[in-house]
Amino acid sequence: MKLHIPDNIVAVKPYPPGKTQAELEREYGITGSIKLASNENAWGPSPKVVRALRSALTAIHRYPDSSSHELVHGLAAKLGFDVDEIVLGNGSNEVIEFLVKAFVREGDEVISSHPSFLMYQKFVQVHGGENYIVPLKDMCHDLKVIQEMISEKTRLVFLDNPNNPTGTSLKPLDLYTFFSKVPESVIIVLDEAYVDFMDNDKQLDIFSLIRNTKGRCPIVSLRTFSKVYGLPGLRIGYGLMSREIAGCLNKVRQPFNINHMAQVGALAALEDNEYYQYIVDVTRQGRAYLHAEVESLGCTVYPSQANFLLIKVRGVGQVLYEALLHRGVIVRPMGAYGFSDCIRVTVGTEEENARFLEEFSGCLKDLSYV
Ligand SMILES: Cc1ncc(COP(=O)(O)O)c(C=O)c1O
Repeated sequence: MKLHIPDNIVAVKPYPPGKTQAELEREYGITGSIKLASNENAWGPSPKVVRALRSALTAIHRYPDSSSHELVHGLAAKLGFDVDEIVLGNGSNEVIEFLVKAFVREGDEVISSHPSFLMYQKFVQVHGGENYIVPLKDMCHDLKVIQEMISEKTRLVFLDNPNNPTGTSLKPLDLYTFFSKVPESVIIVLDEAYVDFMDNDKQLDIFSLIRNTKGRCPIVSLRTFSKVYGLPGLRIGYGLMSREIAGCLNKVRQPFNINHMAQVGALAALEDNEYYQYIVDVTRQGRAYLHAEVESLGCTVYPSQANFLLIKVRGVGQVLYEALLHRGVIVRPMGAYGFSDCIRVTVGTEEENARFLEEFSGCLKDLSYV
């Protein structure tokens, strides 16, 4: 076979997904493992979502509603936006790709941070754009350097707030000041996958950022049903943006990108305010508990506004990760993100957090990482 594989595709490194429990149990011949590796919601979706999904099963012989009418109207009513300011994606990942597809041509520049969510750079590579990567400063996006890097060729800037994998968030005032200095031709993509877990005073006024753009850059906010709503298996996320940008994204979208189950499940999730608040509360409590307990074991824990913690250990993160696997606990090693002395741990249920702490402190002792 003589394939002509383009250089930009050769250069793409596959995304390293978290190990699944089934994989671990098969490989190690163990049972009863726990997974705290993919920033999932450990409690699962609302029981109302599960009920809605069961009754939706009988309609899957039909193509889904291409416009996701009910879900888009539900989101618009809840968030105060117009329906044509919302674009749904097969996970917010797909909205990231829509942005790159619609706005980035060969040679165009896209700025993102390192480390941050790996998919921004991958999509840019795949679509022939140029990645400009700014190292984090004090574990946060370096807005000053990002601003200096913006050129006439810059089309998009990706900022995940909170950042994955550090969990850190930026001060709203610093972000507002930064936005006011970015030219009108550059789209700032604020990836808010973890926004629900942030302290209220750290959340931005997204509505006015998107609506009032006079004299400054447009903002796109990305949200997902994969985290607080516990629906990563359905693949559904969305972006909030101006009508003009949404119109461009809809042109590169496939007609049936949101499957029927995702539309039904997401709408039911959106309607269950009580369950949403419960997940926000238990996640914040678990985060504070894990933070304090891990710190008391002598490790550095970065201040997280998300549903996970980045933990720096006195040793090699990959070695600790493997030791935890042997004890049936899956976390995420951080070598691929450039933090070889760190692991990332998702907040779990009370029982999962206790199990993690027990196995983690056992591993630290076994490995002399204390
Ligand atoms: C910062 C960030 N953005 C986006 C995503 C993707 O979410 P989705 O499941 O909606 O594609 C993730 C997933 O972990 C993430 O961490």
